[in-house]
Amino acid sequence: MSVKTIAIGNDHGGTELKFEILKRLENSGYTVINKGTDTTDAVDYPDMAKLVCDEVNSGNADCGILICGTGIGIGISANKIKGIRAAMCSDCFSAKMARVHNNANVITFGARTIGPELAWSIVESYLSAEFEGGRHEKRVEKIMALENL
Ligand code: RB5
Repeated sequence: MSVKTIAIGNDHGGTELKFEILKRLENSGYTVINKGTDTTDAVDYPDMAKLVCDEVNSGNADCGILICGTGIGIGISANKIKGIRAAMCSDCFSAKMARVHNNANVITFGARTIGPELAWSIVESYLSAEFEGGRHEKRVEKIMALENL
Protein backbone atom coordinates (compact mmCIF):
# COMPACT_ATOMS: atom_id res chain seq x y z
CA MET A 1 0.00 0.00 0.00
CA SER A 2 1.42 3.32 -0.93
CA VAL A 3 1.04 5.87 1.85
CA LYS A 4 -0.40 9.26 0.97
CA THR A 5 -1.98 10.47 4.20
CA ILE A 6 -0.39 10.16 7.63
CA ALA A 7 -1.88 11.00 11.02
CA ILE A 8 0.70 12.21 13.52
CA GLY A 9 0.14 12.83 17.21
CA ASN A 10 1.95 13.28 20.46
CA ASP A 11 1.79 14.10 24.11
CA HIS A 12 3.61 17.05 25.68
CA GLY A 13 6.90 15.13 25.59
CA GLY A 14 6.71 14.89 21.82
CA THR A 15 5.46 18.28 20.71
CA GLU A 16 8.68 19.71 19.32
CA LEU A 17 9.62 16.51 17.52
CA LYS A 18 6.07 16.15 16.16
CA PHE A 19 6.35 19.52 14.41
CA GLU A 20 9.78 18.66 13.02
CA ILE A 21 8.55 15.37 11.55
CA LEU A 22 5.30 16.95 10.36
CA LYS A 23 7.22 19.62 8.46
CA ARG A 24 9.48 17.07 6.81
CA LEU A 25 6.52 14.88 5.84
CA GLU A 26 4.74 17.82 4.20
CA ASN A 27 7.94 18.83 2.42
CA SER A 28 8.12 15.27 1.11
CA GLY A 29 4.63 15.56 -0.37
CA TYR A 30 2.54 13.67 2.18
CA THR A 31 -0.81 14.90 3.44
CA VAL A 32 -0.51 15.10 7.21
CA ILE A 33 -3.33 15.08 9.76
CA ASN A 34 -2.05 16.85 12.86
CA LYS A 35 -3.39 15.32 16.08
CA GLY A 36 -2.21 15.31 19.65
CA THR A 37 -1.24 18.40 21.55
CA ASP A 38 0.43 21.42 19.95
CA THR A 39 1.77 22.71 23.29
CA THR A 40 4.00 21.43 26.08
CA ASP A 41 1.22 21.57 28.66
CA ALA A 42 0.78 18.14 30.19
CA VAL A 43 -1.75 15.82 28.59
CA ASP A 44 -2.34 12.07 28.91
CA TYR A 45 -0.77 9.97 26.18
CA PRO A 46 -3.63 7.40 25.94
CA ASP A 47 -5.94 10.23 24.86
CA MET A 48 -3.43 11.33 22.24
CA ALA A 49 -2.95 7.77 20.97
CA LYS A 50 -6.69 7.42 20.42
CA LEU A 51 -6.86 10.58 18.31
CA VAL A 52 -4.36 9.19 15.80
CA CYS A 53 -5.63 5.59 15.88
CA ASP A 54 -9.16 6.80 15.14
CA GLU A 55 -7.85 8.46 11.98
CA VAL A 56 -6.15 5.22 10.93
CA ASN A 57 -9.13 3.00 11.74
CA SER A 58 -11.55 5.30 9.92
CA GLY A 59 -9.39 5.23 6.80
CA ASN A 60 -8.77 8.98 6.92
CA ALA A 61 -5.08 8.18 7.31
CA ASP A 62 -3.12 5.35 5.71
CA CYS A 63 -0.96 5.03 8.81
CA GLY A 64 -0.05 6.82 12.02
CA ILE A 65 2.96 8.17 13.86
CA LEU A 66 2.86 8.62 17.64
CA ILE A 67 5.45 10.39 19.78
CA CYS A 68 5.73 10.64 23.55
CA GLY A 69 8.74 10.91 25.84
CA THR A 70 9.83 7.32 25.27
CA GLY A 71 7.37 6.04 22.68
CA ILE A 72 6.35 3.38 25.19
CA GLY A 73 3.21 4.71 26.86
CA ILE A 74 1.69 5.96 23.64
CA GLY A 75 2.55 2.66 21.94
CA ILE A 76 1.04 0.51 24.68
CA SER A 77 -2.07 2.68 24.48
CA ALA A 78 -2.31 2.38 20.70
CA ASN A 79 -2.08 -1.41 20.85
CA LYS A 80 -5.13 -1.52 23.13
CA ILE A 81 -7.23 -0.03 20.33
CA LYS A 82 -8.86 -2.56 18.00
CA GLY A 83 -7.45 -2.55 14.50
CA ILE A 84 -4.11 -1.09 15.50
CA ARG A 85 -0.72 -2.72 15.17
CA ALA A 86 1.68 -0.21 16.67
CA ALA A 87 5.43 -0.79 16.61
CA MET A 88 7.78 1.15 18.83
CA CYS A 89 10.92 1.80 16.81
CA SER A 90 14.23 3.27 17.85
CA ASP A 91 16.21 2.00 14.85
CA CYS A 92 15.70 1.95 11.10
CA PHE A 93 15.82 -1.81 10.64
CA SER A 94 12.99 -2.32 13.12
CA ALA A 95 10.98 0.42 11.41
CA LYS A 96 11.38 -1.31 8.04
CA MET A 97 10.54 -4.74 9.44
CA ALA A 98 7.54 -3.37 11.31
CA ARG A 99 6.02 -2.91 7.89
CA VAL A 100 7.59 -5.84 6.00
CA HIS A 101 6.73 -8.56 8.52
CA ASN A 102 4.16 -7.08 10.91
CA ASN A 103 2.25 -4.74 8.62
CA ALA A 104 2.25 -2.19 11.44
CA ASN A 105 -0.19 0.60 10.77
CA VAL A 106 1.30 2.86 13.45
CA ILE A 107 4.88 3.51 14.52
CA THR A 108 5.87 5.13 17.78
CA PHE A 109 9.09 6.61 19.10
CA GLY A 110 10.36 8.71 21.95
CA ALA A 111 11.36 12.35 21.72
CA ARG A 112 13.47 11.93 24.85
CA THR A 113 15.30 8.85 23.57
CA ILE A 114 16.15 9.64 19.96
CA GLY A 115 17.03 12.82 18.09
CA PRO A 116 15.23 14.36 15.12
CA GLU A 117 17.59 12.97 12.46
CA LEU A 118 17.22 9.38 13.65
CA ALA A 119 13.47 9.90 14.06
CA TRP A 120 13.21 11.07 10.47
CA SER A 121 15.31 8.14 9.21
CA ILE A 122 12.98 5.80 11.12
CA VAL A 123 9.96 7.40 9.49
CA GLU A 124 11.54 7.14 6.04
CA SER A 125 12.46 3.49 6.62
CA TYR A 126 8.91 2.67 7.64
CA LEU A 127 7.23 4.60 4.84
CA SER A 128 9.42 3.19 2.09
CA ALA A 129 8.84 -0.43 3.12
CA GLU A 130 6.02 -2.71 1.95
CA PHE A 131 4.26 -5.58 3.70
CA GLU A 132 5.67 -8.83 2.35
CA GLY A 133 2.49 -10.87 2.87
CA GLY A 134 2.98 -14.60 2.26
CA ARG A 135 3.85 -16.46 5.46
CA HIS A 136 3.45 -13.20 7.40
CA GLU A 137 -0.19 -12.85 6.42
CA LYS A 138 -1.31 -15.69 8.68
CA ARG A 139 0.74 -14.33 11.58
CA VAL A 140 -0.71 -10.86 11.27
CA GLU A 141 -4.18 -12.43 11.12
CA LYS A 142 -3.35 -14.25 14.36
CA ILE A 143 -2.28 -10.99 15.96
CA MET A 144 -5.62 -9.48 15.06
CA ALA A 145 -7.52 -12.56 16.30
CA LEU A 146 -6.08 -11.87 19.77
CA GLU A 147 -8.45 -8.90 19.91
CA ASN A 148 -11.36 -11.32 20.13
CA LEU A 149 -10.17 -13.42 23.07
C1 RB5 B 1 5.22 12.07 30.07
O1 RB5 B 1 5.96 12.71 31.06
C2 RB5 B 1 5.83 10.72 29.76
O2 RB5 B 1 5.53 9.83 30.76
C3 RB5 B 1 5.33 10.23 28.42
O3 RB5 B 1 5.65 11.13 27.43
C4 RB5 B 1 5.87 8.90 27.95
O4 RB5 B 1 7.26 8.87 28.01
C5 RB5 B 1 5.27 7.70 28.55
O5 RB5 B 1 5.51 6.58 28.16
